[in-house]
Amino acid sequence: MEKGISQAVIRRMPRYYRYLGELLDGGVERISSNELSARMRVTASQIRQDLNNFGGFGQQGYGYNVKYLYDEIGKILGINQQHNIIVIGAGNLGQALANYMKFEKRGFVIIGLFDVDPALEGVTIRGIQVRMMDELQAFVKAQRVDIAALTIPKERADETANELVKLGIHAIWNFAHLDLELPEYVVVENVHLSDSLMQLSYNIANQRKFKEQKDKK
Ligand code: NAI
Repeated sequence: MEKGISQAVIRRMPRYYRYLGELLDGGVERISSNELSARMRVTASQIRQDLNNFGGFGQQGYGYNVKYLYDEIGKILGINQQHNIIVIGAGNLGQALANYMKFEKRGFVIIGLFDVDPALEGVTIRGIQVRMMDELQAFVKAQRVDIAALTIPKERADETANELVKLGIHAIWNFAHLDLELPEYVVVENVHLSDSLMQLSYNIANQRKFKEQKDKK
Protein backbone atom coordinates (compact mmCIF):
# COMPACT_ATOMS: atom_id res chain seq x y z
CA MET A 1 0.00 0.00 0.00
CA GLU A 2 1.24 3.55 -0.74
CA LYS A 3 2.35 5.03 2.56
CA GLY A 4 1.43 8.51 3.70
CA ILE A 5 -1.16 9.21 1.02
CA SER A 6 -4.38 10.43 2.51
CA GLN A 7 -7.55 8.40 2.14
CA ALA A 8 -9.16 11.53 0.65
CA VAL A 9 -6.72 11.36 -2.28
CA ILE A 10 -7.20 7.61 -2.66
CA ARG A 11 -10.96 8.13 -2.71
CA ARG A 12 -10.62 10.52 -5.64
CA MET A 13 -8.53 8.08 -7.68
CA PRO A 14 -11.39 5.89 -8.97
CA ARG A 15 -12.97 8.98 -10.47
CA TYR A 16 -9.75 9.88 -12.30
CA TYR A 17 -9.58 6.29 -13.46
CA ARG A 18 -13.13 6.40 -14.78
CA TYR A 19 -12.61 9.66 -16.67
CA LEU A 20 -9.30 8.55 -18.15
CA GLY A 21 -10.92 5.28 -19.24
CA GLU A 22 -13.61 7.26 -21.06
CA LEU A 23 -10.96 9.45 -22.72
CA LEU A 24 -9.09 6.33 -23.83
CA ASP A 25 -12.29 4.85 -25.26
CA GLY A 26 -12.75 8.12 -27.14
CA GLY A 27 -9.26 7.85 -28.65
CA VAL A 28 -7.76 10.75 -26.67
CA GLU A 29 -4.02 10.20 -26.23
CA ARG A 30 -3.01 13.15 -24.12
CA ILE A 31 -4.69 15.79 -22.04
CA SER A 32 -3.57 18.87 -20.12
CA SER A 33 -4.46 19.25 -16.47
CA ASN A 34 -6.61 22.25 -17.51
CA GLU A 35 -8.66 20.17 -19.93
CA LEU A 36 -9.00 17.34 -17.43
CA SER A 37 -9.98 19.91 -14.83
CA ALA A 38 -12.75 21.32 -17.05
CA ARG A 39 -14.14 17.85 -17.70
CA MET A 40 -13.97 16.65 -14.12
CA ARG A 41 -14.91 19.95 -12.50
CA VAL A 42 -11.95 19.71 -10.19
CA THR A 43 -9.38 22.51 -10.14
CA ALA A 44 -6.26 21.92 -12.22
CA SER A 45 -4.15 22.52 -9.13
CA GLN A 46 -6.07 19.81 -7.26
CA ILE A 47 -5.37 17.41 -10.11
CA ARG A 48 -1.66 18.28 -10.13
CA GLN A 49 -1.51 17.98 -6.36
CA ASP A 50 -3.32 14.63 -6.33
CA LEU A 51 -1.16 13.13 -9.02
CA ASN A 52 2.04 14.53 -7.50
CA ASN A 53 1.39 12.25 -4.54
CA PHE A 54 2.35 9.44 -6.84
CA GLY A 55 5.27 11.19 -8.47
CA GLY A 56 3.45 13.22 -11.09
CA PHE A 57 3.12 11.55 -14.52
CA GLY A 58 2.69 14.87 -16.27
CA GLN A 59 5.20 16.64 -18.47
CA GLN A 60 5.49 20.40 -18.68
CA GLY A 61 3.98 21.58 -21.96
CA TYR A 62 2.81 18.11 -22.94
CA GLY A 63 0.16 17.33 -20.39
CA TYR A 64 -0.69 13.82 -19.34
CA ASN A 65 -0.34 10.72 -21.44
CA VAL A 66 -3.82 9.27 -20.96
CA LYS A 67 -2.96 5.59 -21.39
CA TYR A 68 0.08 5.84 -19.14
CA LEU A 69 -1.83 7.70 -16.44
CA TYR A 70 -4.74 5.26 -16.70
CA ASP A 71 -2.41 2.29 -16.28
CA GLU A 72 -0.49 3.89 -13.41
CA ILE A 73 -3.64 4.76 -11.48
CA GLY A 74 -4.85 1.20 -12.13
CA LYS A 75 -1.63 -0.07 -10.55
CA ILE A 76 -1.97 2.29 -7.60
CA LEU A 77 -5.50 1.05 -7.02
CA GLY A 78 -4.35 -2.53 -7.48
CA ILE A 79 -6.87 -3.18 -10.23
CA ASN A 80 -4.24 -4.36 -12.66
CA GLN A 81 -4.69 -7.70 -10.94
CA GLN A 82 -7.65 -9.96 -10.30
CA HIS A 83 -9.39 -9.91 -6.93
CA ASN A 84 -11.48 -12.94 -6.08
CA ILE A 85 -14.57 -12.15 -4.02
CA ILE A 86 -16.95 -14.32 -2.07
CA VAL A 87 -20.32 -12.96 -1.00
CA ILE A 88 -21.58 -13.97 2.44
CA GLY A 89 -25.37 -13.68 2.49
CA ALA A 90 -27.14 -14.51 -0.75
CA GLY A 91 -30.28 -12.45 -0.06
CA ASN A 92 -31.49 -9.42 -1.99
CA LEU A 93 -28.25 -7.46 -1.81
CA GLY A 94 -25.90 -10.42 -2.16
CA GLN A 95 -27.74 -11.56 -5.27
CA ALA A 96 -27.76 -8.04 -6.70
CA LEU A 97 -23.97 -7.85 -6.29
CA ALA A 98 -23.58 -11.26 -7.92
CA ASN A 99 -25.78 -10.15 -10.81
CA TYR A 100 -23.73 -7.05 -11.50
CA MET A 101 -21.20 -7.87 -14.18
CA LYS A 102 -19.22 -4.67 -14.44
CA PHE A 103 -17.13 -5.41 -11.35
CA GLU A 104 -15.45 -8.06 -13.47
CA LYS A 105 -14.33 -5.46 -15.96
CA ARG A 106 -12.23 -4.02 -13.14
CA GLY A 107 -10.87 -7.41 -12.12
CA PHE A 108 -13.25 -8.09 -9.23
CA VAL A 109 -14.57 -11.59 -9.79
CA ILE A 110 -17.25 -13.11 -7.59
CA ILE A 111 -16.26 -16.74 -7.24
CA GLY A 112 -18.65 -17.89 -4.52
CA LEU A 113 -21.90 -17.13 -2.72
CA PHE A 114 -22.62 -18.41 0.77
CA ASP A 115 -25.70 -18.47 2.98
CA VAL A 116 -27.22 -20.36 5.90
CA ASP A 117 -30.69 -20.72 4.44
CA PRO A 118 -31.14 -24.29 3.14
CA ALA A 119 -33.78 -22.99 0.72
CA LEU A 120 -30.99 -21.28 -1.20
CA GLU A 121 -28.71 -24.29 -1.42
CA GLY A 122 -27.86 -25.10 -5.03
CA VAL A 123 -29.58 -21.98 -6.41
CA THR A 124 -27.35 -20.33 -9.00
CA ILE A 125 -27.01 -16.61 -9.60
CA ARG A 126 -25.44 -15.81 -12.98
CA GLY A 127 -23.83 -19.22 -12.95
CA ILE A 128 -22.54 -18.90 -9.39
CA GLN A 129 -23.85 -21.56 -7.08
CA VAL A 130 -25.04 -20.67 -3.57
CA ARG A 131 -23.21 -22.84 -1.04
CA MET A 132 -23.91 -23.37 2.62
CA MET A 133 -21.64 -21.78 5.23
CA ASP A 134 -20.35 -25.15 6.40
CA GLU A 135 -18.67 -25.52 3.02
CA LEU A 136 -16.79 -22.26 3.41
CA GLN A 137 -13.63 -23.57 5.06
CA ALA A 138 -12.99 -26.19 2.37
CA PHE A 139 -13.77 -23.62 -0.34
CA VAL A 140 -11.29 -21.10 1.02
CA LYS A 141 -8.62 -23.78 1.26
CA ALA A 142 -9.16 -24.82 -2.33
CA GLN A 143 -9.36 -21.34 -3.91
CA ARG A 144 -7.72 -18.00 -3.43
CA VAL A 145 -10.18 -15.61 -1.84
CA ASP A 146 -9.05 -11.99 -1.59
CA ILE A 147 -12.19 -10.21 -0.42
CA ALA A 148 -15.37 -11.22 1.39
CA ALA A 149 -18.48 -9.10 0.87
CA LEU A 150 -20.72 -9.16 3.95
CA THR A 151 -24.38 -8.88 3.07
CA ILE A 152 -25.95 -10.50 6.10
CA PRO A 153 -28.01 -9.11 9.00
CA LYS A 154 -25.90 -6.92 11.27
CA GLU A 155 -26.53 -9.17 14.28
CA ARG A 156 -24.40 -11.86 12.64
CA ALA A 157 -21.85 -9.61 10.99
CA ASP A 158 -19.14 -9.34 13.68
CA GLU A 159 -19.02 -13.02 14.45
CA THR A 160 -19.00 -13.96 10.76
CA ALA A 161 -16.32 -11.39 9.88
CA ASN A 162 -14.07 -12.80 12.61
CA GLU A 163 -14.60 -16.32 11.27
CA LEU A 164 -13.61 -15.10 7.81
CA VAL A 165 -10.44 -13.54 9.22
CA LYS A 166 -9.56 -16.82 10.93
CA LEU A 167 -9.88 -18.52 7.57
CA GLY A 168 -7.27 -16.11 6.23
CA ILE A 169 -9.47 -13.52 4.50
CA HIS A 170 -8.08 -10.12 5.38
CA ALA A 171 -10.24 -7.77 3.33
CA ILE A 172 -13.92 -7.20 4.02
CA TRP A 173 -16.38 -5.26 1.90
CA ASN A 174 -18.91 -4.59 4.61
CA PHE A 175 -22.53 -3.74 3.81
CA ALA A 176 -23.93 -4.61 7.25
CA HIS A 177 -24.72 -1.49 9.24
CA LEU A 178 -22.19 -2.14 11.95
CA ASP A 179 -18.62 -1.08 12.70
CA LEU A 180 -16.81 -4.38 12.67
CA GLU A 181 -14.33 -5.14 15.42
CA LEU A 182 -11.46 -6.87 13.70
CA PRO A 183 -7.69 -7.09 14.05
CA GLU A 184 -5.88 -4.02 12.78
CA TYR A 185 -4.28 -5.70 9.80
CA VAL A 186 -7.69 -6.45 8.30
CA VAL A 187 -8.82 -3.89 5.76
CA VAL A 188 -12.48 -3.02 5.82
CA GLU A 189 -14.39 -0.90 3.34
CA ASN A 190 -17.83 0.03 4.60
CA VAL A 191 -20.55 0.75 2.09
CA HIS A 192 -23.64 2.39 3.46
CA LEU A 193 -26.13 3.67 0.91
CA SER A 194 -28.06 5.28 3.74
CA ASP A 195 -25.01 7.41 4.67
CA SER A 196 -24.90 8.61 1.11
CA LEU A 197 -28.62 9.44 1.27
CA MET A 198 -28.13 11.37 4.50
CA GLN A 199 -25.33 13.32 2.85
CA LEU A 200 -27.73 14.05 0.00
CA SER A 201 -30.41 15.13 2.46
CA TYR A 202 -27.93 17.50 4.16
CA ASN A 203 -27.01 18.98 0.79
CA ILE A 204 -30.68 19.40 -0.15
CA ALA A 205 -31.24 21.34 3.08
CA ASN A 206 -28.22 23.55 2.32
CA GLN A 207 -29.33 24.05 -1.23
CA ARG A 208 -32.69 25.33 0.06
CA LYS A 209 -30.96 27.69 2.47
CA PHE A 210 -28.76 28.96 -0.35
CA LYS A 211 -31.81 29.55 -2.58
CA GLU A 212 -33.67 31.35 0.19
CA GLN A 213 -30.71 33.64 0.82
CA LYS A 214 -30.38 34.30 -2.90
CA ASP A 215 -34.12 35.06 -3.23
CA LYS A 216 -33.93 37.53 -0.33
CA LYS A 217 -31.18 39.52 -2.05
P1 NAI B 1 -31.86 -10.40 3.00
O1 NAI B 1 -32.63 -10.80 4.22
O2 NAI B 1 -32.51 -10.43 1.68
O3 NAI B 1 -30.53 -11.31 2.91
C1 NAI B 1 -29.73 -11.65 3.99
C2 NAI B 1 -29.22 -13.08 3.73
O4 NAI B 1 -28.22 -13.39 4.72
C3 NAI B 1 -30.32 -14.14 3.86
O5 NAI B 1 -30.35 -14.94 2.70
C4 NAI B 1 -29.92 -14.93 5.11
O6 NAI B 1 -30.27 -16.28 5.03
C5 NAI B 1 -28.41 -14.74 5.08
N1 NAI B 1 -27.75 -14.94 6.37
C6 NAI B 1 -28.20 -14.67 7.62
N2 NAI B 1 -27.27 -14.98 8.54
C7 NAI B 1 -26.22 -15.48 7.86
C8 NAI B 1 -24.95 -15.97 8.26
N3 NAI B 1 -24.58 -16.01 9.54
N4 NAI B 1 -24.11 -16.41 7.31
C9 NAI B 1 -24.46 -16.39 6.00
N5 NAI B 1 -25.65 -15.92 5.56
C10 NAI B 1 -26.51 -15.46 6.48
O7 NAI B 1 -31.27 -8.97 3.32
P2 NAI B 1 -30.68 -7.89 2.30
O8 NAI B 1 -31.72 -6.94 1.92
O9 NAI B 1 -29.93 -8.58 1.24
O10 NAI B 1 -29.66 -7.14 3.24
C11 NAI B 1 -28.50 -7.79 3.73
C12 NAI B 1 -27.73 -6.90 4.68
O11 NAI B 1 -27.25 -5.76 3.99
C13 NAI B 1 -28.54 -6.36 5.85
O12 NAI B 1 -27.68 -6.28 6.97
C14 NAI B 1 -28.95 -4.98 5.39
O13 NAI B 1 -29.18 -4.11 6.46
C15 NAI B 1 -27.72 -4.58 4.62
N6 NAI B 1 -27.94 -3.60 3.58
C16 NAI B 1 -26.99 -2.65 3.48
C17 NAI B 1 -27.05 -1.71 2.49
C18 NAI B 1 -25.93 -0.73 2.44
O14 NAI B 1 -26.00 0.24 1.70
N7 NAI B 1 -24.90 -0.94 3.18
C19 NAI B 1 -28.15 -1.64 1.54
C20 NAI B 1 -29.09 -2.72 1.70
C21 NAI B 1 -28.98 -3.65 2.71
